[in-house]
Amino acid sequence: MVSIDKKIIFVSHCPSENTKILSDTVLDTIKSHKLKLKVEMYSPFNITSNDVLQSDGIMIGTIENFGYMAGATKDFFDRCYNDLLEKSQGLPVFYYVRAGLDGEGSERALNRIILGLKWKQVLKPLILKGQWNDNFVTLVSEASLNFAIGIEEGIY
Ligand SMILES: Cc1cc2nc3c(=O)[nH]c(=O)nc-3n(C[C@H](O)[C@H](O)[C@H](O)COP(=O)(O)O)c2cc1C
Repeated sequence: MVSIDKKIIFVSHCPSENTKILSDTVLDTIKSHKLKLKVEMYSPFNITSNDVLQSDGIMIGTIENFGYMAGATKDFFDRCYNDLLEKSQGLPVFYYVRAGLDGEGSERALNRIILGLKWKQVLKPLILKGQWNDNFVTLVSEASLNFAIGIEEGIY
């Protein structure tokens, strides 16, 4: 039996068919590789700061609306930022943004928040912009597997 040592959390806002595909890809990819870690998915509206504090790494999937990350994703940071400040430094993080147009506003805002929390951005964020492209699925799959293996092996 595979022993489970670590846990990563995935804060996923996936209101559309395409973003649900991306979100499922993250979970399916990690689960299918039978790593020695657990992955738990949360809606940004439900996750608590304790969930984050009890994790070994965090992945975030959001959309961009009106030039900013989804209101749902912002709600997570609005509720949890102060509780996490000075308590979660160095937490490995990877995020992706599905953006119909550009994704720049979300990227800028997320980078600022991550810097403020002193989390460790171990992978370049994926900005999946423009018209839907099936290659987005491959990119998300590769990055989430890379993230999970890095956490499992203690590299990140
Ligand atoms: C009301 C609304 C506002 C949006 N604003 C932006 C935006 O400011 N920048 C952007 O890149 N995409 C924007 N989009 C596109 C969404 O990011 C995109 O629809 C979402 O990521 C879902 O992707 P999908 O259509 O491939 O499922 C907007 C979409 C809606 C419905």
